[in-house]
Amino acid sequence: MPSLQQVKDANLQLKNSKPGLVAVFAGGTSGIGESTCKEFIRNTVSPKAYIIGRNKVEASRIMQELKEINSKAEIHFLECDLTLLRNVDQVCNEIKEKEDLINLLFMSAGFLSMRRQETSEGLDRMMAIQYYSRMRLAVNLMPALAAASAAGEPARVHSALNAGKEGKMFLDDLPLENHFSLKNSAAQTTTMTTLAFDQLALAHPDIAFIHTSPGIVRTNITKGFGPVISSISGAFLILLAPFLTTPVQESGQRHLYAALSKNYLPMNTDNSERHVQRLNSKSEFCGENSELEEYRKNKVGPQIWEHTLQVFRTCT
Ligand SMILES: NC(=O)c1ccc[n+]([C@@H]2O[C@H](COP(=O)([O-])OP(=O)(O)OC[C@H]3O[C@@H](n4cnc5c(N)ncnc54)[C@H](OP(=O)(O)O)[C@@H]3O)[C@@H](O)[C@H]2O)c1
Repeated sequence: MPSLQQVKDANLQLKNSKPGLVAVFAGGTSGIGESTCKEFIRNTVSPKAYIIGRNKVEASRIMQELKEINSKAEIHFLECDLTLLRNVDQVCNEIKEKEDLINLLFMSAGFLSMRRQETSEGLDRMMAIQYYSRMRLAVNLMPALAAASAAGEPARVHSALNAGKEGKMFLDDLPLENHFSLKNSAAQTTTMTTLAFDQLALAHPDIAFIHTSPGIVRTNITKGFGPVISSISGAFLILLAPFLTTPVQESGQRHLYAALSKNYLPMNTDNSERHVQRLNSKSEFCGENSELEEYRKNKVGPQIWEHTLQVFRTCT
């Protein structure tokens, strides 16, 4: 396991990369996305960041802090509800109008909910933000990521979700119209992310696809449960903090390391058999698990990707 000091030292080396790296943070207004964005701005030269979220007040606080961290940074806030794929398309168009080349797409937007809530596009809101909209961001921004790779620059797609916790999926009900629960949704979106990234990596071997599990980080993630459960879980985490949780700044440091370190390379330059790089909260490779292996062996990845494209076709 790379120590935190090794992670920080590797991040400092990013100052030797080309100036002007461009990153998109979908979910950069809080928690892991905010913290990773701060580390990106701190450790790179003249960076540019696009922060996507809904909370304008938080966004202006963060933009102020980012300017204090690095006065040469260029920061943009794009207000967007990412539960709708048509909004994802709009925000991607705004980015593509400004940028031909993107080095990092970092996706951590999400919330937790116990019940299924359907969007006007017919998807569950939580599944939409944790899986479908992230895949749509990746597909929409792929040409700009490919341009970065062609220019010999980093080109990375990173989803912070639950790598290593892949589990049983409902293959006959991928959007969980009839089997929704928090647990089922976590297994479904986590496993779909890993299998979809396998497919994207095969199609774009010059781009690195990274799926991380943050562990337990004290952020706003339980807000969606409502004030009572959220406060109880907050108090619980304060008690357990020294034993179980990763401080939010360390999470940002480790996520930046996972996102941009030369240890996690695209498929065409990586000597391992890995398509997607799956990492835990300590920046270690996740072991394989039997369900994921079974799905890979049975070639379920193409089926997941075809379903995803089918959803994309109905949401245009
Ligand atoms: N924290 C943990 O312990 C933990 C553990 C395992 C996995 N994870 C996963 O890690 C990811 C990041 O979680 P976090 O802890 O950083 O959570 P967080 O602090 O609550 O941040 C969530 C981010 O998602 C954005 N977001 C939520 N709903 C949105 C919407 N409808 N449209 C656009 N943006 C939206 C929020 O922005 P706005 O409020 O501005 O919209 C915020 O920037 C999540 O997928 C979570 O499931 C977290």
